[in-house]
Parts: sequence; C-alpha cells; structure tokens
Amino acid sequence: MRSEDAPAVADLTGTLGYPSTAAEIAGRFEAISRRRDGLIFVAEATGGPVVGWVHIRPARSLESDPFAEIAGLVVAEGARGQGIGRVLVGAAEGWAREHGYEIVRVRSSIARVGAHAFYEHLGYCHVKTQKNFRKMIGRPDC
Ligand SMILES: CC(C)(COP(=O)(O)OP(=O)(O)OC[C@H]1O[C@@H](n2cnc3c(N)ncnc32)[C@H](O)[C@@H]1OP(=O)(O)O)[C@@H](O)C(=O)NCCC(=O)NCCS
Repeated sequence: MRSEDAPAVADLTGTLGYPSTAAEIAGRFEAISRRRDGLIFVAEATGGPVVGWVHIRPARSLESDPFAEIAGLVVAEGARGQGIGRVLVGAAEGWAREHGYEIVRVRSSIARVGAHAFYEHLGYCHVKTQKNFRKMIGRPDC
C-alpha cells in the first residue's frame, strides 16, 4: 500500500463493515508504517483501481510463541471469485515466512460464513470460537 491508495482502501474498508474516511485510513496507514506493525498489501487491476487489501502483522504475547496475524482482508464485491483473495493471503504468508513466523492466524466474525470456507479452502484450520468484549474508557456505553 502507498498513501495515495487511502481513498480506494477506505471504500473497501467500508464494504468490510468498518466505514472509514480516506483521512482516517491515511492516518492509520501512517501509524502502522511508522511503528512497523506489519505490512499492508493491495491488489490492483492492471492500470486500474485497488480491488483488495490485506494487513499482516506480528503478534506477541506471554502465553504463546510469536505468530503472524491477518488483521484484515477484503476484496471488492465485483472482483471476488477471481483468485485475488488467494493472492493477497499468499502475499501475507510470504511476509510471515520472510519474518520467521511459523504460524499465521486470522480471527473472523461468526457471520462471515463465506470467508470461513475460503480460509479452510486455503488450508487454515478452525481452532477456536471466541466472544469479543469491549469497554469504552470514560464512557458508560459500549
Ligand atoms: C473472503 C474473500 C477475501 C475471498 O476473496 P476472493 O478473491 O473472492 O477469493 P478467491 O477468488 O481468491 O478464492 C480462492 C479460493 O477460495 C475459494 N472460495 C472463495 N470464497 C469461497 C466461499 N465463499 N466458499 C467456498 N470457497 C470459496 C475459491 O473457490 C477459490 O478456490 P480455488 O482457488 O481452488 O479455485 C472475499 O470474499 C471477501 O472480501 N469477503 C468479504 C470480506 C471478508 O469476509 N473478509 C474476511 C475477513 S476475516
């Protein structure tokens, strides 16, 4: 990804269910790049628009060895079923391999049934189902 991809990446991020402005995406991209929090690959039609993106990043914790995590992945609705998702995941796995990770993990909402079939088709195993909690600091709502 380059900073000029921010508007197209913002549109795609909206279809993923996370409405974001180009400015918000540009700011997050800058922070991810500055902190070396992994890498974002985009897929582009030849000479055309960005039609997909994937963010692969390192994950460290006390309870497990380091692993690489697919933090986000989306392909434009009109470009699905053409192998773009497979290429993006391949790029993410290449990054993981280059950086010495032996495990790639991805968390996917229970509602994304198509994505689950996609990951399983690409060799990923369903290992856990979780609940996701959130608290707004300084606010009573969630
Ligand atoms: C999931 C997603 C990224 C897949 O991208 P895509 O470009 O359509 O996938 P591809 O065309 O590269 O498919 C790769 C393989 O997976 C298979 N596959 C893709 N979607 C599938 C589905 N819903 N069910 C079963 N198999 C599927 C394809 O048949 C293909 O198989 P092949 O390579 O053996 O022919 C895309 O559907 C998407 O953006 N979904 C909405 C966002 C989302 O759910 N993101 C994941 C968040 S965790």
